[in-house]
Amino acid sequence: NKVVLAYSGGLDTSVIVPWLRENYGCEVVCFTADVGQGLMEMDGLEKKAKASGASQLIVKDLKEEFVREYIFPCLRAGAVYERKYLLGTSMARPVIAKAMVDVAKDVGADAVSHGCTGKGNDQVRFELTFFALNPELKVVAPWREWEIQGREDAIEYAKKHNIPVPVSKKSIYSRDRNLWHLSHEGDILEDPANEPKKDMYVLTVDPEDAPNQPEYVEIGIVSGIPVSVNGKDLSPASLLSELNEIGGRHGIGRVDMVENRLVGMKSRGVYETPGGTILYVAARELESLTLDRETIQMKDTIALKYAELVYAGRWFDPLRESMDAFMEKITETTTGSVTLKLYKGSVTVASRRSPKSLYREDISSFETGSIYNQADAAGFIQLYGLPIRVRAMLEKGI
Ligand code: ARG
Ligand code: SIN
Repeated sequence: NKVVLAYSGGLDTSVIVPWLRENYGCEVVCFTADVGQGLMEMDGLEKKAKASGASQLIVKDLKEEFVREYIFPCLRAGAVYERKYLLGTSMARPVIAKAMVDVAKDVGADAVSHGCTGKGNDQVRFELTFFALNPELKVVAPWREWEIQGREDAIEYAKKHNIPVPVSKKSIYSRDRNLWHLSHEGDILEDPANEPKKDMYVLTVDPEDAPNQPEYVEIGIVSGIPVSVNGKDLSPASLLSELNEIGGRHGIGRVDMVENRLVGMKSRGVYETPGGTILYVAARELESLTLDRETIQMKDTIALKYAELVYAGRWFDPLRESMDAFMEKITETTTGSVTLKLYKGSVTVASRRSPKSLYREDISSFETGSIYNQADAAGFIQLYGLPIRVRAMLEKGI
């Protein structure tokens, strides 16, 4: 039997390789997905995997698929978890887990394994994706089984098994990075009263140190999906990297929050989502032109549930897929461009245009107007205000 392991090259996943061989007696195929985390050197990674005892390392570049099939649908939906979290880690797990299911099929493996702890959301996201795409695969989650408690234990285990201990200096934070975001958890962040240290941040400059000159950026959107930056058409992944670059230098997209994990506990995290924050603002601004009141209300209501499902690892759930069909239909006309002004951590709208805009100056203007007749408002207000008037009459005995 053979197992496909989600492998990063870090200490934990390096130790999992010999542990799987020792405890399950299986061949270990390592799999690394490139989702924009900034991969360590490629051939270094393969050598490392083999030195740990893997039979091979398979690497797949999933960046375009990740942005096109996972990030952009969440953006189009306007999915935000608990008012603040733009779901960066949540969206990455299903794309990685799906690729693992494919790799398992290709190499003839009957099991998959990951290095998530038993206390978090990620284990759920990986495993629900495995269930949905291949219910027959066995799942091994070493963190829920082994004795290894922390870094010291892991190093000792590695030494005992003659596994080279990865030299990369481990950050004190638990971080997860991809093209959309970088998350920080752990260490001093575990006390919600502690302000994050200035040197913790990776993708964004401190807003206080950002340029004193604002920068304008124009986002082109077709049917709720971003297609261009400053008039230049870009592939999904390059569009996002470009915006990360721009947003990062203006300190855009820092979020510090206490969230509720699916497994019940609260957790404090800090996120950097520079490009993503710009895109969320742009998409919402464009919708203010293209969607009417009730449609926006319904969309926002469904977006809440959509975010909850994505957070909880239920990407491949017909409920999320059906809501996605709704989102696709409702944003058909959300096409146009939005210019945003970036300045010391803030994103404000400067301009919005759409060929499908429902906004009509000839109706809304204070200056002119022939379609809207002000006299019509009198009757409208009489009927619209009837219930509130009747109640007041009752109270006053009229
Ligand atoms: N709390 C965030 C989430 O649940 C981020 C998790 C980060 N994961 C990690 N393995 N460091 O989506
Ligand atoms: C982990 O526990 O593996 C990371 C945190 C999380 O999954 O929420």
